[in-house]
Amino acid sequence: MIMRSIVLFFAFPLFFPFYAFVPVAALAFSRDTNLAEVKRAFDVALISGNINLIFEPQILLEVTFPQPSTNTKPITLRRAGAQLLVNETTRPPIFNIIKSRSKGPFFIAIVDPDAPTPQKPIWAQIRHFLGGDFFLETPRIPTLLSNNTEALSPFLQPVPPAGSDPHRFVFLIFDQPRDFRGEKLATTNDSLIHFIISSYASAMKLGQPIGGTFMLVGS
Ligand SMILES: *[C@@H]1O[C@H](CO)[C@@H](O)[C@H](O)[C@H]1NC(C)=O
Ligand SMILES: *[C@@H]1O[C@H](CO)[C@@H](O)[C@H](O)[C@H]1NC(C)=O
Ligand SMILES: *[C@@H]1O[C@H](CO)[C@@H](O)[C@H](O)[C@H]1NC(C)=O
Repeated sequence: MIMRSIVLFFAFPLFFPFYAFVPVAALAFSRDTNLAEVKRAFDVALISGNINLIFEPQILLEVTFPQPSTNTKPITLRRAGAQLLVNETTRPPIFNIIKSRSKGPFFIAIVDPDAPTPQKPIWAQIRHFLGGDFFLETPRIPTLLSNNTEALSPFLQPVPPAGSDPHRFVFLIFDQPRDFRGEKLATTNDSLIHFIISSYASAMKLGQPIGGTFMLVGS
């Protein structure tokens, strides 16, 4: 992608006036930077190793939490690793993606690898959400994902125990295989603790995540 941006950088002025080329190049560079930043944030937070998945993001996943009061603007997680308050993450999030190759369907998972505490995560991972059949809704950037099927595992509000350091809540988006039948492995009756996203992804043939982000939530 950097190579392509450099090619654009040199090729565009030959065909377009300078003012036309600047936003295109800026967009290409900022996207690359963001993907690299997300990956770096995951690496620094040791998430790949902790959840045993390879994280090479190809798309940016943007997570927004609607707020209980209609007077309060929804809160968007602007940066992987940003911290939110417990009372800001009470509602199921909505998702936007940037730079997608496909229209979906996508599968999204949220897990907490830090329960009950990051130092002794003996309950990890806690399953906070599993949902499939997310499709691109609008041909805009960022693009809202919409879903019409029930979540396989409904959104569980992050509530780290009092006294715990903030937990990492990891959002992962996968390409969903055509014959996906997620309900076989995680029904609403299955225990929410000791959920292993890598085993689930492997059993459900989800492959590795194509994007993701994470937030810290502390009380
Ligand atoms: C969350 O709680 C803090 C105080 O702990 C308060 O300042 C803030 O307004 C609350 N936010 C929401 C969305 O309720
Ligand atoms: C769609 O996804 C949201 C989370 O973004 C989830 O709360 C909801 O249960 C899912 N299904 C439907 C039918 O909305
Ligand atoms: C969950 O358990 C209840 C009661 O034991 C049962 O009626 C229901 O069918 C179960 N649901 C699933 C999805 O297995």
